[in-house]
Amino acid sequence: EPRRPVVAVDGPSASGKSTVAKALAKALGIAYCNSGLVYRAITWSLVDKGVDLDREQSFKSAVRSMKLECRIEENELHVRIDGKEVGQEVRSPAVNAAVSRVSASPWLRKRLLPLFRKLADDRALVMEGRDIGTAVFPGTRFKFYIDADPKVREQRRQKQGESDSIEERDWEDRSRKAAPLRCAADAVFIDSSRMTVEEVVLRMLEELRKRGFPLPKESSVS
Ligand code: CDP
Ligand code: CDP
Repeated sequence: EPRRPVVAVDGPSASGKSTVAKALAKALGIAYCNSGLVYRAITWSLVDKGVDLDREQSFKSAVRSMKLECRIEENELHVRIDGKEVGQEVRSPAVNAAVSRVSASPWLRKRLLPLFRKLADDRALVMEGRDIGTAVFPGTRFKFYIDADPKVREQRRQKQGESDSIEERDWEDRSRKAAPLRCAADAVFIDSSRMTVEEVVLRMLEELRKRGFPLPKESSVS
């Protein structure tokens, strides 16, 4: 079990997990952590350096030589690679196309585990990703798995102005050997296909209350 309360939020791409995790953290007055940002930042750096992802030794030595820093500031995760704070560039099509391959590496995932866990050493947080409830914080009592119909998810992505297909990335995330995307046995499963963001967050707050999460006096959704 983590030292501080951790809410784990997992799910496939465009299920709405970032949006609801962020709103939930705000309602709870605690930090919001997007673990995907770390995988994206590493992928961006590898792509930027032109590293051949098929060559394991080049991949490993490039990752080993990266200076990766994760900090929480004003309740949000900030990632720096080689001294530079990552921004919107990690949402590029090139990163979208390569990130699942990079994050399938068991070697890389093992390396990142302590880094993610350390973030919960001195503060409560909502962490969102693919394996937070199954591998990063399997001991937390507060777990959610957010899903939605593939068609709805594709529409949500298009609405956000992104044209990359999420299907392939989802398939890769689900079928990899190391910490694949799946709903933990003790997670609350929410199908958000026909729910608004507010409805999902209210459902989560209700579930947290039932499970004894230390809620602030007024946890309103905005
Ligand atoms: O983080 P993830 O890839 O799972 O999805 P997201 O970027 O948080 O959400 C994708 C889009 O779906 C956002 O524009 C949300 O506002 C929208 N959304 C929605 O319409 N209904 C929901 N119940 C949840 C999210
Ligand atoms: O925003 P979106 O849902 O599209 O993806 P993201 O959360 O930014 O994550 C990008 C990619 O990082 C995922 O497709 C996974 O391959 C990887 N990832 C992972 O393997 N484990 C996590 N805990 C979070 C992300």
